[in-house]
Parts: sequence; structure tokens; C-alpha cells
Amino acid sequence: MSRSTVWRWVEELRNLGVHVKGQRRTGYFLEKVPDVLTPDLLRKRMKGNSFGKRVFHFFKTDSTNRVAMELGYSGEPEGTVVLAEAQSAGRGRSGRIWHSEKGTGLYFTILLRPRLSPAQAPLLTMLAGLSAQTAIAAQTGLVAELKWPNDLLLGGKKLGGILTEMHAEPSAVRFVIVGIGLNVNQEKFPSELSSTATSIRKESGKLSYRLELLARLLTQFESDYNRFLRDGPAFVVERFESVSSFAKGRRVRVDTGTESYAGVTAGLSPDGLLLVQRDGGPLSTVIAGDVTEVQ
Ligand code: BTN
Repeated sequence: MSRSTVWRWVEELRNLGVHVKGQRRTGYFLEKVPDVLTPDLLRKRMKGNSFGKRVFHFFKTDSTNRVAMELGYSGEPEGTVVLAEAQSAGRGRSGRIWHSEKGTGLYFTILLRPRLSPAQAPLLTMLAGLSAQTAIAAQTGLVAELKWPNDLLLGGKKLGGILTEMHAEPSAVRFVIVGIGLNVNQEKFPSELSSTATSIRKESGKLSYRLELLARLLTQFESDYNRFLRDGPAFVVERFESVSSFAKGRRVRVDTGTESYAGVTAGLSPDGLLLVQRDGGPLSTVIAGDVTEVQ
């Protein structure tokens, strides 16, 4: 191609924030590969896996869960991944918004078509938490705490969250989408989150290569998922209970929307629900609701 075409493309790259050293006459040098979650690079890194073969990448979308839900209805296969560099309406639990700053966190959703009953689908949230914990530890050495059912914490602050949604018949799941949000390279958060949120960068003082973390997480999740389908719920429930110090002996307040009570966490039921020994009352099973630690 002509010199002027090269120059035009270099200018395009610079406008996108890519650092390109050099002059028109002497040639150009790409100083750093930008940390963009390029589908091509991800596919290459995911060779030999079946997750991440179909990748939908957005520089910005409203919510990767919303997109994945549509792809689920339109017949996309299991293992399809929807990724965004930024989300304008990232969905959190209980109708909350997931803060999704451009290019700093990981915001992605995995489409699954498991043969499970709708009651078993929430176990996929816990499974994704376990896979994320393993991947983060392998890449950074940081061991995140798992808070039932969907939170990853570091130093008591929120590092990540998982939102599982599904389309199901009364007795069988049609498809499930597992949406994962991880705070990776954020330096700071909006003031309303600054006392409750943290990132890998804030905790380790280092930048992490998001593409590598994503690839590790997807690989880990694929293997954990296959084991869950083979061995059944006990694999997830027992592992979660053993690695989550939150699951036993923590003083909590439970808010179900219809009632609120205090007690101490007492492990998980065989189907993965949190048990709470109510103060002066019976052992309760938390099916849904907010569980917050209290002193
Ligand atoms: C929570 O802790 O409340 C769950 C947060 C889940 C956020 C992720 S970001 C990627 C995916 N797309 C969404 O809209 N939400 C999930």
C-alpha cells in the first residue's frame, strides 16, 4: 500500500488511543498492543475449547445480558460469548445498575443450553463465581472471597458480580445466560461506589491484561461446567461451601422483600441454598433476597 495509506491508518489508530511511535519518513512502531478484547485474539487463545468459538464483541452496548438473551432466542449455540468494552445499562441483581467504565473491566455473558431443571440453574451462578475465583488467583495471586450467591469480594469490597438469567419451561431449561462483571483495571469509582467497590488494580497495584484473564476464566468455566453436568450439584455446593468463609458462621441480615431477619450463616442446603440460623428462631433457607454481613 502507499505511504499515505499507512499514514492515514496510523492516524486512525492514534485517534483510538493506540500509542504509535515514529515519523512519516522513518517508519512506525507499535509501542504497546492495546488491551482491546479482540475476538480474533480471544479465539486464538481459546483454541481447543468449545466456549468462546462464537464471540460477539461490542465497543459499547446497553447490556451483554440483554444481547445474549436475544441470541439465545435466535438459536445461537452453547458457549457463545458476548463481550463489551463498555455498557450503558449493565444489569446487576435486584434491578441495580452495573457500573461499566470503558476498557477497564470485564463485562461479558456466556450462553448455555444445559439439561437442567429451572431449580438447578442458580447453581451456575455459584459455579461461575468459583471459576472466576480460580482464574483471578492464577493470574494475580489474589484470592477473592465468595459471598453467596453471586458476589466476589476483596477486603470486604465488591470486585465482581454474576447475574444469571434464563428462559425455561416449567420442567426444563431452554437456555441460561451467565453474565459476569469484574473490576479489573479501574483506578477509581464514582463516589457512590467508592467505599464499597474495588478492583484488581486497586488491590494489587498492577494492571492486568484483561484478554488473558477472560481467556483463563472461560477455560476454567468450561471445565467446571462440564464437571457439574457430569457429577451433579454436589460438586458445586461442596466446593462453594468449602472455599466461601461467608457460608458458615457469619452474622448476617437477610432481606427477602417480604421480611427481614438477623442470624448466622449455617452452610448450604444440598441444592445450594443458604441456610441461616435465625436469632432465637428456626433454621431458615434463603431462596432469594439480599444477605448483608453485620457486626
Ligand atoms: C451483581 O452483582 O449485581 C451482578 C452484576 C453482573 C454484571 C454483569 S456485567 C456483564 C453482564 N451484563 C450485564 O448487563 N450484567 C452482567
